[in-house]
Amino acid sequence: MKTKKTLYIIVLAVTFCCTSVSEEDLIDTTPVPMTVTYEANIKTIINTNCIICHNNPPVNGAPITLVTYNDVKNAVENNGLISRISSNDLSFLMPFGGPRLPQSTIDLIIQWETDGLLEE
Ligand code: HEC
Repeated sequence: MKTKKTLYIIVLAVTFCCTSVSEEDLIDTTPVPMTVTYEANIKTIINTNCIICHNNPPVNGAPITLVTYNDVKNAVENNGLISRISSNDLSFLMPFGGPRLPQSTIDLIIQWETDGLLEE
């Protein structure tokens, strides 16, 4: 009986005193919000939807080039790119003549501006 009790205490002691904390347990797994960058997120959208007119040189009457990071950044800052893609007015909307980009794509470009128009 006495031996059993001693054993019980030893088991308890080992369980509570010597539980090791692995490094993995210490890593914060809260998801970090993604930062949108030109290279990772925006370039592909522009290449797929805009370059056919906003090439260098631009064609089909497009007034600006959207080929490089600086082109696109500049268009957001000075040519109202975001209001163009967000518009519900078909005569103002980009891509020219529509259809409007998916809302999630528009939101990503808005997020890019919020994040500071980072290149990468
Ligand atoms: C089919 C050809 C075509 C496509 C595709 C196209 N555009 Fe355009 N874009 C034009 C034309 C033509 C104009 C000038 C007429 C106007 O302002 O509406 C223009 C004007 C613009 C302007 C205004 C420039 C200024 O200074 O007035 C922006 C910004 C723009 N486009 C961005 C985009 C973006 C972003 C995309 C892709 C999501 C896109 N365009 C896709 C033809 C196109």
